[in-house]
Amino acid sequence: MILVIVIPVLVLLALAMLFAALRRRDSRLAIGKLSRETRQRDRTTAASASDAAADALAPTAASAEQKAVSTWRGDDGQAEVVEAEVVSDWTPPDPEAVGVSRRQFLNRSIIGFMGLSVSGFGAAMIAQLWPAFVTGFGAVINAGTVDDIKDQIRENNGFLKLSNGRMWITEYPESAIEKAREVYSPGELAGMEQGLIALYWKCPHLGCTVPECVSSQWFECPCHGSQYNRVGEKRGGPAPRGMDRFRMSINDKGELLVDTGGIIQGPPIGTNTTGQEAEGPNCIGQASE
Ligand code: FES
Repeated sequence: MILVIVIPVLVLLALAMLFAALRRRDSRLAIGKLSRETRQRDRTTAASASDAAADALAPTAASAEQKAVSTWRGDDGQAEVVEAEVVSDWTPPDPEAVGVSRRQFLNRSIIGFMGLSVSGFGAAMIAQLWPAFVTGFGAVINAGTVDDIKDQIRENNGFLKLSNGRMWITEYPESAIEKAREVYSPGELAGMEQGLIALYWKCPHLGCTVPECVSSQWFECPCHGSQYNRVGEKRGGPAPRGMDRFRMSINDKGELLVDTGGIIQGPPIGTNTTGQEAEGPNCIGQASE
């Protein structure tokens, strides 16, 4: 059934294409009919030409060659010297004079847009890789000389809060260093061996800012009751570990540099290098693991 419809359609299409091709050929070869006046004028011209030809002698091959040579050599028999034309340097056309076509405009717009996109992406990638110029939290913070820091800690009842680095700095007892070397990394020990430790003030439980408790000389979180001794080791509450801390170093001038760009996770539960018990009443109640 389908073939009954398709075959005639194909035949008709083939005929249509053949007809179109023939018409195109005809139009290329088409010669219009001449008017009567034109045909009359042609006859008159042809008759004149035939009379002129009759007047002249029938040219031979030799006479035609001689005529051509004489024409080429000139009247005096010498070959005509033609000076070579000076070829000037090529000058590119003035783009303004030539103008910009719509296609050129579109092509250039597309290329320009793609160039801008690629450049923007490249710039963003480079900016991502380039070390950011950071100050405050996230940067290396110069906390001052070790001696000055210790003085400030003592003036502030055992705790120094540096808001620009979101940190607490407390003293680390010299007597506990041997134990500390078994637990802490070189980045932490660099400051601890100078008697200082820099702790991130964010509670490792759920992120509250942990305040100091002057009476117990601990840190005690008011949110859910986690407690840490003065060097950030966990003593009670729901926190999963001790307080997180920062890498420290001492420069040539004896200043403590704290790198707040990376956080070192606090020591595991049970770490107690200093053995410090609460030195007075707790701020949020008795510690319980
Ligand atoms: S956030 Fe500090 S104990 Fe929960």
